[in-house]
Amino acid sequence: MSSFVVVGAQWGDEGKGKMTDYLAENADVIVRFQGGNNAGHTVEVGEKQYKLHLIPSGILYEDKLNVIGNGVVVDPRALFKEIDYLKDLGVDVTPKKLIISDRAHIIMPYHIEIDKLSEKMKGSHSIGTTFKGIGPCYTDKFERIGIRVCDLIDNKIFEEKLRRNLEIKNKYIKEVLNGEELKFEEIFDQYNNFSKRLEPFVKDTSVEIFKNIKNEKNILFEGAQGMLLDIDYGTYPYVTSSNTTSCGVASGVGIGPNLIDEVLGIAKAYTTRVGKGPFPTELNDEIGEWIREKGHEYGVTTGRSRRCGWLDTVILKKSARVNGLTSFTITKIDTLAGLDKVKLCIAYELDGEKIDYFPASLEKLARCKPIYEEFDGWSEEIEKISDYKDIPENAKKYIRRIEELTETKVSIISVGPKRSQTIRINY
Ligand code: GDP
Ligand code: IMO
Ligand code: MG
Repeated sequence: MSSFVVVGAQWGDEGKGKMTDYLAENADVIVRFQGGNNAGHTVEVGEKQYKLHLIPSGILYEDKLNVIGNGVVVDPRALFKEIDYLKDLGVDVTPKKLIISDRAHIIMPYHIEIDKLSEKMKGSHSIGTTFKGIGPCYTDKFERIGIRVCDLIDNKIFEEKLRRNLEIKNKYIKEVLNGEELKFEEIFDQYNNFSKRLEPFVKDTSVEIFKNIKNEKNILFEGAQGMLLDIDYGTYPYVTSSNTTSCGVASGVGIGPNLIDEVLGIAKAYTTRVGKGPFPTELNDEIGEWIREKGHEYGVTTGRSRRCGWLDTVILKKSARVNGLTSFTITKIDTLAGLDKVKLCIAYELDGEKIDYFPASLEKLARCKPIYEEFDGWSEEIEKISDYKDIPENAKKYIRRIEELTETKVSIISVGPKRSQTIRINY
């Protein structure tokens, strides 16, 4: 048995979907442990592209079990939309291939409404959320008024909880957020229909995963978002509402942390960020624009353009520490090809002092000026390379320096969006 965690090492969109699909070939079970349909994971196989939000990226294989763990927040409408979308692309999602935790919390229409209205009310202090109701759903979980999958599929309990919650939520929506009240009957009828469709997929997933571990199966945990969007370690408050780091696996799945063997941090060869908040290496110039266009840096979930900047090893070092990374995958090396010079941030200057850590205070972070090392670029088209020895020497120098600065090895590099465009490094 081996269990392997894939996490985003930056601000999300590092290529976790692609890497999960690639690694899933050798896995039996692929598990999402946090987040919800705020995620947008792209997988390309052959000429086909798949955009996944809630369903694990192992779903494209016929013979794997995919699991949505208890730490995930599930919007049933989004789930069935995704199942129908996959069916149209020739991928069947049956309860044999997908199981959903009975303890996962359900995203309700009032969560989505509150997400939108409270972002609007925050004005210039808004977070820039995906409007999927993620924060309000996790808030209810911790407030201990959330509706879980097991509550939804029990008609009586669901009715009672929905009635109670909607009364409070409608007051909040109307009186605090100046929105329109939601109607009980509409939600009740709609969610009762969802409940019938959901029931065959529902399981105690902690038990199922543990069984698979005991049977020596290989388990792959697919993170969503990235380390800097983690509720504890990210650029708070410009974060999501879950633990996106590997520490989220044990609680979000229901297994002990001692059952995790390896943690792979996925990092882009540069840095991107969607939404608001400080970003020390951001490039507000033509190079940033060039990277955005060449790398197609537009959000999978919201279509928003992603902010782009140089690779920041202060972030990667922190990621290696808080995730316990056993190695990195560096993606999109191909996107940087063609630049004369490539810069790598090795430390910050904060109020005249050199620091190599990521400050907790956003005000301090906003004052951090990146200190760069400059590298000669590589112009070779590297999308077709399949052996590490053929990677241009300048790109190799860049990768080796990332390893030195982060004290973590790079085990895989990705040179294109397709499953096949992946190179393992065997030193
Ligand atoms: P995720 O959220 O971490 O799964 O990443 P996204 O799917 O949101 O964004 C990553 C984008 O980069 C997707 O469009 C992928 O198809 C694409 N991608 C992944 N790896 C590579 C790579 O090595 N090279 C290029 N050019 N594109 C890549
Ligand atoms: P994947 O899994 C990039 C960002 C949002 C916003 C903040 C809070 O594709 O990497 P939320 O809706 O979660 O309350 O929004 O988090 N965000 C992501 N950014 N990739 C993601 O997922 C993200 N999921 C949330 O843009 O800044
Ligand atoms: Mg994404």
